[in-house]
Amino acid sequence: MERMIPPYKIKMVEPIKLIPREERERAIVEAGFNPFLLNSKDVFIDLLTDSGTGAMSDNQWAGIMLGDESYAGSRNFHNLRNTVKDIMGFEFVIPCHQGRGAEQVLNRVLLKEGQTVPGNIHFDTTKAHIEVLGGRAVDCTIDAIHDPAAELPFKGDLDLDKLRAVIEPDPLNVAYVLITITNNSGGGQPVSLQNIRDVSAICHEHKVLLYIDAARYAENAWFIKTREPEQKNKSIRDIVRNIFSCVDGVLMSAKKDAIVNMGGFLALRDEELYQKLCPICVLFEGFPTYGGMNGRDIEAMARGLYEAIEEPYLAYRIGQIEYLGRRLEATGVPIVKPVGGHAIYIDAKTFFPHITQDMFPAHTLCVELYLEGGVRSVEIGTLLAGRDPDTGENIHPALELTRLTIPRRVYTQEHMDYIADTVAGVWGRRHDVQGLDFEYEAPILRHFQSRFKRSA
Ligand code: F0G
Repeated sequence: MERMIPPYKIKMVEPIKLIPREERERAIVEAGFNPFLLNSKDVFIDLLTDSGTGAMSDNQWAGIMLGDESYAGSRNFHNLRNTVKDIMGFEFVIPCHQGRGAEQVLNRVLLKEGQTVPGNIHFDTTKAHIEVLGGRAVDCTIDAIHDPAAELPFKGDLDLDKLRAVIEPDPLNVAYVLITITNNSGGGQPVSLQNIRDVSAICHEHKVLLYIDAARYAENAWFIKTREPEQKNKSIRDIVRNIFSCVDGVLMSAKKDAIVNMGGFLALRDEELYQKLCPICVLFEGFPTYGGMNGRDIEAMARGLYEAIEEPYLAYRIGQIEYLGRRLEATGVPIVKPVGGHAIYIDAKTFFPHITQDMFPAHTLCVELYLEGGVRSVEIGTLLAGRDPDTGENIHPALELTRLTIPRRVYTQEHMDYIADTVAGVWGRRHDVQGLDFEYEAPILRHFQSRFKRSA
């Protein structure tokens, strides 16, 4: 296998420990067979999320020491504003404590009850913020996103016919269109620059606002450079500029592609809308130059935005995920193809064909990976999808996935090999694994708090 050299060296370490198998058994039973309820000290390799789990650089930590904790107009805010203007081209920036804070502020101003927000699989919190205000998140992603084996370069793209079908009958009923880059819930799949341009043209034609959920915009830009032939000679900086030049504004969870542990922002061009957003920010997040963040953390966020678009960083980052994907494929493990930006998604329906969706195959795989090697992963399947409010039955999503989410700049190639060996260990005994039943089903957001028992 090809050798990858990280474009950084390690200056600080955090010890991790693999507790013995019998202690892992005890820990997962105590956690009700729910990895969200494990204590992190009992986890060896933590692949629950790439959100807020990255390693900051020496440059970011140095920025922390330059925190200006003034209530209003701190220099760190000015640095952030200049950075966002430089990288993305937006004039107005509102820091928010994380992505969902930005979602709340934007939706409270843009969305009226009954309106729709078309997009390409909204992230859970984004969808919930739309629905809580009486709006409807409409998925317009191309059909191929639902087929784990469909090898298309841009499976995150919106289907333009589906989008037109939502917008054209009544453009005034569309609050805004949201493109999520990369498409997390569908497998970390990118959206092409061409598709962003086409969606933008449709939105302009009908005078509908277009926003981007930019949580993983740098990774998306890398895929545009490497998979969209017309863009291969462009720099990441140029591609990023071109992406954002098509849209009215951006929502960002900085916990991903700004490589900070907490933070987010909203950025836009329209001064009038900015003036409407500011008082909502004051109410829910804080004064619009700090928006729920410390000055020092705003500084680290501004610096991280630059680091995430460095090409050697992105080449290593995406290369690491591809490496893990190749190792799993060599074992025969079914994964979502092509490999996306921040995670490997295992197709758990194919992994455990004998476990029905009502017995949570993807969640069962998370439990088995923990038992096998102390690896914590996360389910994106039937457990997360919840119940149909009309029938009370479990919703059976087309994709039943176990996500191995790789934090940024945290794990090495040896860790990737260990993860691959752990998955292979469960793969080897997959026919003997049973599914799970609820012992306690939490009434809302059930994946976080529910407890399970092994099915009889
Ligand atoms: N948008 C996308 C595409 C996300 O993946 C997330 C979070 C958010 C918005 C919300 O941002 O957490 O800062 O409030 N995704 C995490 C995950 C939690 O594990 O995929 P936040």
